[in-house]
Amino acid sequence: SDALKVGIAGLGTVGASLVRIIQNRANELAVTCGRAIEITAVTARDRNRDRGIDISGIAWFDTPEKLAAEADIDVFVELMGGANGPAANSVRAALERGLHVVTANKALLAASGVELAKIAEEKGALLNFEAAVAGGIPVIKALRESLTGNTVSRVYGIMNGTCNYILTRMEKEGLSFADCLREAQRLGYAEADPAFDIEGNDTAHKLAILTTLAFGSEIAADEIYLEGITNISIEDIRAASDLGYRIKLLGVAQKTESGIEQRVHPTMVPHDTVIAQVDGVTNAVAIESDILGELLMVGPGAGGNATASAVLGDIADIAKSRPGAQRVPVLGTPAASLAPYKRAR
Ligand code: NDP
Ligand code: HSE
Repeated sequence: SDALKVGIAGLGTVGASLVRIIQNRANELAVTCGRAIEITAVTARDRNRDRGIDISGIAWFDTPEKLAAEADIDVFVELMGGANGPAANSVRAALERGLHVVTANKALLAASGVELAKIAEEKGALLNFEAAVAGGIPVIKALRESLTGNTVSRVYGIMNGTCNYILTRMEKEGLSFADCLREAQRLGYAEADPAFDIEGNDTAHKLAILTTLAFGSEIAADEIYLEGITNISIEDIRAASDLGYRIKLLGVAQKTESGIEQRVHPTMVPHDTVIAQVDGVTNAVAIESDILGELLMVGPGAGGNATASAVLGDIADIAKSRPGAQRVPVLGTPAASLAPYKRAR
C-alpha cells in the first residue's frame, strides 16, 4: 500500500503516547498527510510489560538494532534515549540503510548529531528531531525553516521542564526539592537518570543543538559553561523574590566579538518579564534575529503527549514529502558546510 511504514524503538512515556495518538487519529492523519501512517514494527526492553497500548498486530523485534536493520519500514523512530549504545547503534544502522529517522534524543544529537547528519545527507534520508528541544514547541522548525535568511544573534530560554517544574513548586507551594523531583519523575517529565535534568546537562544538550542550527557551528556541548539547580534552596528562591526576581534555569547562546558564548545556569529573571512568568513544565525559547526581531515561543516542554505531538509532526513531514521530492538538510545547513565551533573567550 501507499502507507508510510513506521518502526518505533522505545515504548515508554513518549513512545506509548505516540502509538496511542497514531492509532486513535489514523483517519485524520491519512487525510492530512495524503497517505496512511502505519506502525509496522516496535521494540522495547520488556516485551511483557503492560503499556496501556495495543501492539498485538505489530511486529515485535527483540532489539532496536535488529528493528533498524531488518524491519519493513520507511521511518525509524528512536524513543529510547542515551548518547551511546542501542540508540546510537540503531539510528546509525537505520540511516545507513537509507531510512528516514525521527528522534527525541537530545543526548545523542549533542554527542553525534553532525556525524549522523552527514550519513543522512549521503543517503538522501531525513533526520528529524523537533521533540529533542523544548518538547512540543516547534523551535527546530522555526530555526530550520521559518527564520531562513535571518542572522541570529541570540537564542535563550527555559529548556528543561523538570527543572522549571521543581523551581515553580518549591516557590509556590514550599515543597522540598526531592519531593518536586519525585513528582516530575512520576509525571514522565524527567530523564531516565534525572541527574541530567537537575545538573543542567539536558539543557546543555538542547542548547548545543540550537547553537548549531542558529549559528551553523559544529556542536560543542562540552564547551558549555554548566551549572544546574541542585544547590538552589527555598531560601534562595524567597530572597530572589523579595528583590523582584524569579530564579530560572536558562540556556543562553549568543554571538560575541570573540565567538559564540554558550552557558547554562540558574538566573535571576525580573518578575515582570514573560520568561519569569513561565511556570511548571512549560518551556520558553527566545530567538533574536535581524530580519524578524525577537521571537518568543512558550509551550509544553515535556511529558508524553507534548513530546509525541512533536514526534508526530516530524513523521507527518516525512509522509508528506515523497522520497526524493523534498530535501531538508539535516542541521539547517548542509552538515558538510558547518563552521568549526569557536568559543567566546
Ligand atoms: P522512558 O524511560 O519512559 O522510555 C524509554 C523506552 O525505551 C522504554 O520503553 C524502554 O523499554 C526502551 N528502552 C530503553 N533501553 C532500551 C534498550 N536497550 N533496548 C530496547 N528498548 C529500550 O523514556 P521517555 O519516553 O521519557 O524518553 C524517550 C526519549 O525521549 C529520550 O531520549 C528522552 O530524552 C526523550 N524525551 C523525553 C521527553 C519526556 O518528556 N519524557 C521529552 C523530550 C524528549 P521498557 O519500557 O521495556 O523499559
Ligand atoms: N527531561 C526533559 C525535561 C524532557 O524535563 O525537559 C524534555 O526534553
